[in-house]
Amino acid sequence: MARLPDAFIDELLARTDIVEVVGSRVPLKRQGKEYAARCPFHDERTASFTVSPAKQFYHCFGCGAHGTAISFLMQYDRLEFLDAVEELARRAGMEVPRDTRQRNANPDVQDLYAVLAAAAEFFRAQLARSDKAAAYVKKRAIAPEIAARYAIGYAPDGFSALRDALGGDPRRLALLERAGLLSKNDRGHVYDKFRDRLMFPIHDRRGRVIAFGGRVIDPEDSPKYLNSPETALFHKGRELYGLWQARQANPKLERLVVVEGYMDVVALAQYGVSQAVATLGTATTPDHAELLFRNAPDVVFCFDGDRAGRAAAWKALESVLPRMKDGRQAFFLFLPEGEDPDTLVRQEGVAGFDARLREATPLSEFFFASLSADVNLASLDGKARLAERCKPLLAQIPDGAFGDLMRQRLTELTGVGARAGAAQPHAPPPRASAPMRGQPAHKPSLVRHAITLLVQQPAVALALPGEDRFAALEQPGVALLAELVQLVRARPDITTGALLEHFAEREEAAALHKLALLELPGEPAALQAEFADAVAQLERQLRQQRIAALQARLATLDDAEKAELRELLQARVQAP
Ligand code: UTP
Ligand code: MN
Repeated sequence: MARLPDAFIDELLARTDIVEVVGSRVPLKRQGKEYAARCPFHDERTASFTVSPAKQFYHCFGCGAHGTAISFLMQYDRLEFLDAVEELARRAGMEVPRDTRQRNANPDVQDLYAVLAAAAEFFRAQLARSDKAAAYVKKRAIAPEIAARYAIGYAPDGFSALRDALGGDPRRLALLERAGLLSKNDRGHVYDKFRDRLMFPIHDRRGRVIAFGGRVIDPEDSPKYLNSPETALFHKGRELYGLWQARQANPKLERLVVVEGYMDVVALAQYGVSQAVATLGTATTPDHAELLFRNAPDVVFCFDGDRAGRAAAWKALESVLPRMKDGRQAFFLFLPEGEDPDTLVRQEGVAGFDARLREATPLSEFFFASLSADVNLASLDGKARLAERCKPLLAQIPDGAFGDLMRQRLTELTGVGARAGAAQPHAPPPRASAPMRGQPAHKPSLVRHAITLLVQQPAVALALPGEDRFAALEQPGVALLAELVQLVRARPDITTGALLEHFAEREEAAALHKLALLELPGEPAALQAEFADAVAQLERQLRQQRIAALQARLATLDDAEKAELRELLQARVQAP
C-alpha cells in the first residue's frame, strides 16, 4: 500500500466532509448529531448505517462496515487507495505529493493510460484535418462544443496512421497493441485497428480514456461500430459510455437515462439531456445495473419498441431486480419504430424527449405486463401460472417496501401471495448491537473515559502541558492513552476516522472502535474540560501510588526520597 505522509492524509480528511462524500452517493437523513441511511454495503430495511460529521467516520451497526471518507470511496466506488485519495484531493483542491504518486503507480498501467490519452489526442487532431470527417460530423449535426466535450476524433484511412504516429519503437508499439489499438494479420504484421472511422473515446469513472468506439464513415464499410477489444483497462460489461461526462455536467445526478448508442448519448447532451449513458453494444449486465444505481437513484432505460427492444428491456429488468433497494426506481421507455433518441430529440427537442421520459413505464408495470402477456388472468389456471412465474423473480428483490408492494400487487392480480406472510407489515427492526450506542452498564474506568474522549475528539489532547506524568501510572490502558496523546501531538489534524485507521492492524482496534461509537453528551468545549480533568485525576492517582509506596518503607528512605515525599505531600495539599 502507498505510503503517503500521515500529515497529508490528516489534512485531506480534515478538509473533506464525509457527510458530503457519502451523501452524494447514499441518501442520508439527519438524526441528532449524526446522519443515518440504509447501509449501502448490505441489504436491510432499517437504517443501521451512520455517518458522523464530528468524528468523520461511518459505521454500520448491521454489518460492521466502517471507516473514513477514503475507505468509503474504496468500498463504494471500488477505487484503489491512491485513486480514492486523488479523488478526495481533487475535491479539496489539494495536490497529492508527487513522488508518492509515481512510486506507487504501476508503471505498466500508467503507460497504458498515457498511450490511450495520446491516441485520443491524435484522433482529435486528425478530425480537424480531414474534410471528409468534418463533413460527416456536420452531416450528423454534432455541435463543436459537444464534439469537444466528448473528445470525438477521427481515425484516418490507411493502415498505419496511428502506428506511425505513436508506435515509433518496439516498446511503444507493444503498448499500442496492449491498448487494443492495433490488429495483427496472419503473417504477424500489425496495423491500425480503427481506420476511416469517427472515434468516440470511452472514459473511466475518473475521466481517463480506456477504450474507443469507432463508427464507419463510408456506409459500405462494416461493422458499423467497432469497439476496442477487452484489455487490462477495459471490460465492456462494466463500463458505460458517457458516465464521466454525465457526472461532470451534474453535481448531483437525480437520474440516468440508458440508451443504446454513442450517437444517442451525444445528441441528447447537445439538446440538454446531460444524464444519458450507453452500454457498449452489450445487454445491460448486473455490473452495469450496480454502477447505474450507485450514481443515481432513478434509472430510465430506453429501448426500441420492437421485439428485440422488449427482449433487451427484459434483460435489463433481470439485472436491476436484485438491486432494487428502497429509494431506487427503474423505468422503461419504448421508442416508436424506426426512431432512436438521437433522431427523436432532434425532431421533438428536449421538451418532447423529457415528456417521453416522464411517461416511461415503471418497472412494476413492465414486469407484470410482460409476465401476464400470454396468460388469462380471468382463469384460475392463469392466475396460478402467473404466481409461479413471479415467485423466483420476486424473491430476488432486496427486503424493503418495493418488494412488499410487488408481492402485494401479485396478490391483487392472482389472489396468491408470492411467499407466506411476505406482504405483512415490517417486523420491528432487529438491532443486535444497539445497546453499544447507549451508556455502558458499568461505570467506565477513568482511563477508559479519557481514551473515549480522546478518540472521539482527538484535539482534546493538544491542551495537555506535554509532560505526560500520568504515563508512569501502573494501570491497564495507561500506556495506550499515553500513546494516543503522543499520536495526536504528532498529527494535530487527525480525525477520529484517521485515528482508528492508524490502529487498524493492532489488537486494540476493536476496543477503540467501540469507544468511538459511544454517544457522549456535551459540547466540544465541555469534552475538552472533562478530558483535562480525567488526566488530572490520573496524575493524582499516580501521586497517591507513589506516596503510598514511599510511606510503606519510610524508615529506609534516603534523603532524595524523603525530599520527594515532602514534595508529593505538599502537592497533594495544593491540588487535592
Ligand atoms: P445502432 O445500429 O442502433 O446505431 O447501434 P446508432 O446508435 O443508431 O448509430 P447511428 O445513429 O447509426 O450512428 C446501437 C449501438 O450498438 C452498438 C454500438 O454501441 C451502437 O452505438 N453497435 C452497433 C455495435 O457495437 N456494433 C455494430 O456494428 C452496431
Ligand atoms: Mn442512430
